[in-house]
Amino acid sequence: MKIIKVKDYNEMSDKLNELFVTQLQNKPTSVLSFTTGGTPAGFAKLFVEEINQGVDISQAVCLNLDEYVGTKENPASVYNWMYNHVYNKLNAKPKIIDMFDADAKDFASEIKRYQTVLETYPRDMQLLGLGTNAHIGANEPGTSFETGAFVADCFQSTIDATQNLFNLSMEDTPIQMFTMGFKEIMDAKCVILAASGKSKANAVKRLLEEDIKEDIPASYLKNHENFIFIVDEDACSLLSD
Ligand code: PGA
Repeated sequence: MKIIKVKDYNEMSDKLNELFVTQLQNKPTSVLSFTTGGTPAGFAKLFVEEINQGVDISQAVCLNLDEYVGTKENPASVYNWMYNHVYNKLNAKPKIIDMFDADAKDFASEIKRYQTVLETYPRDMQLLGLGTNAHIGANEPGTSFETGAFVADCFQSTIDATQNLFNLSMEDTPIQMFTMGFKEIMDAKCVILAASGKSKANAVKRLLEEDIKEDIPASYLKNHENFIFIVDEDACSLLSD
């Protein structure tokens, strides 16, 4: 594990941008996989600016970690987030854009389809945010480390976070997610986890100070040989050392 300690959210966004842009510059055919939410919003803005200033994304494959079950139309959907924050703002589009289909009704065949995409395009970089309970994607505490992609029932804390982030009514807040499991997450050549803010401090403390266990989903990443953890000062505020 490589830990990169940054000052604050802006520095975290700069660092993420540097890592992804460098990856693209070194290998224009990179397969990049993103996540959505509060953590990557600052990075997404910088990344779009950089691509529009001439970094070639036209040969890249761009994927996503997870997606809410329901409809793409939902304001919280990963589809909407990616198109509103990134794809609609790019002058040139990636060669391939894919993600779980929020509208899919046959979960098993959608999971199989996306797993085939992931096998066809081995990821160079997978970005992850850290949940306040240390979840990654929708792999909530207690999820088996043996798990492949599945439809997860979100924990109430995750449902509340989604509702607050998107200012949704209770009825409109999705409660299930398609998610890569630990298997697909670990298959990426490089996994980058980012955490900013005091709300993540307890999860960061548990991740760094406790053993690898299913109660702390992100702890499993410590087994990945190319795991980068970008964390800011507030998120480190509960560390003993
Ligand atoms: P956030 O969410 O980036 O919106 O903080 C991370 C997560 O809960 O997975």
